[in-house]
Amino acid sequence: MTEKQFVLPYIVYDTVEEMDSDYAELLREAHAAARNSYSPYSRYCVGAALLLDDGTIVRGCNIENAAYPSGLCAERVALFAAQANYPQNKPVALAIVAHSEAKPVTKPVSPCGACRQVMVELEHRYGCKIKIMTQGQTGKIMFFDGAETLMPFLFTDLY
Ligand code: THU
Repeated sequence: MTEKQFVLPYIVYDTVEEMDSDYAELLREAHAAARNSYSPYSRYCVGAALLLDDGTIVRGCNIENAAYPSGLCAERVALFAAQANYPQNKPVALAIVAHSEAKPVTKPVSPCGACRQVMVELEHRYGCKIKIMTQGQTGKIMFFDGAETLMPFLFTDLY
């Protein structure tokens, strides 16, 4: 028997001013994306902004549907749109934020498991790590150097 453990390193920034200006800008883009959210059912608005290696920023927001499972998370909207429109460009960094009028989001939003699975496959497809940063509508920012740390033991072994 061998006992093993994971270590999940991350950085917490108290304000965006402490961050690299490219990342501060990416967070601003994610906040702008959250304002495009179509979320009449949850009233929880999520925004994502994916920075590509040529400087392009692809935004995504959550889009809900009356048939609930037909909606999609902000992160996957951005990650899939980037691959559909800019397949030659490597992803570099992803900012994710959440807003809610009902109860202001003051803690960094935590991406769902399905979005983490998709982020890691993107890292594998392009052979790179994606920096992930998350925030509420205000408050501290969590920063992770790569998606794979957020999704240990993900499903990869189809064949
Ligand atoms: N949502 C996201 O956009 N990203 C996540 O990582 C988790 C949840 C959306 C889905 C739904 O529209 C709303 O947030 C409430 O779950």
